[in-house]
Amino acid sequence: MVLKRWKRYLTLSSKSLVTEMSVSIKSEHEIELMRESNRLLSIVHRELGKAIRPGISTKDIDKMGEKLIRSFGCTPNFLNYDGYPASICVSVNDEVVHGIPSKHRYLKDGDIVSLDAGLIYKGYHSDAARTYAVGSISPEAQKLIDVTRQCFFEGIKFARAGHHLHEISNAVDACARSAGFGVVRDLVGHGIGTSLHESPEIPNFRQKTRGIKLKPGMTLAIEPMITMGTDDVEWLEDDWTVVTADGSLAAHYENTILITEEDPEILSLEEDADPLTGIIIRRA
Ligand code: MF3
Ligand code: CO
Repeated sequence: MVLKRWKRYLTLSSKSLVTEMSVSIKSEHEIELMRESNRLLSIVHRELGKAIRPGISTKDIDKMGEKLIRSFGCTPNFLNYDGYPASICVSVNDEVVHGIPSKHRYLKDGDIVSLDAGLIYKGYHSDAARTYAVGSISPEAQKLIDVTRQCFFEGIKFARAGHHLHEISNAVDACARSAGFGVVRDLVGHGIGTSLHESPEIPNFRQKTRGIKLKPGMTLAIEPMITMGTDDVEWLEDDWTVVTADGSLAAHYENTILITEEDPEILSLEEDADPLTGIIIRRA
């Protein structure tokens, strides 16, 4: 989600009391609905991941995703969100997030492509993103993809009851910096539930404050956006597509998670994924 400067000011000036009070705690029943929403989304990602190849248009990816989401009787939550014109955000190379699918934009060998998708199941939202290689890519680009995913897993080591939100931010930042990569500051992760974007905002970069205390039943979308160069981003003329200011490659990895007393539950990851890396080790 886009970081709103006025909202950030409000959060800071209220010493996080307002934020803390407004973070929703899901009931067991709501958690079941969040699980199902995200399970269905993980299937969407699995199918879209299989379709990635040189020659496919970004619009075809969007159409395939929307069809699958509707086949589950669900609604794409990105479509018409603030006027966003598609169901799947497809962002290529230096595009960080919110790329608009186009029938004139074809993926080519050597590209990297980030797919961000979400859906609504019985009123409950899911949100997840993956970055894929198109054909064969450079070792540096592969490292960017791998480190971005690793940043998520480093971050969620602190996503447990009793820890503070910004421990996640600091761990994501440290992971990216130690690889020499940039961290996008103008977009953040977010709470999620009956709305796509709920409190709190979840920065991916180092924070001076501790942030709110995490409690069981919070559902959060953690989404590192990492670049091979600068932290700075720009918006294209379409007012949506976010690109790196220096034209360097960017990757995005996101899951919706549930805070528990123990390890977090990664709701948008298939059960047969490696819990440490998120890599699918077996497929049904
Ligand atoms: N993961 C993205 C976000 O949290 C998805 C939003 S795309 C939009 O900002 F089109 F809905 F904005
Ligand atoms: Co998100």
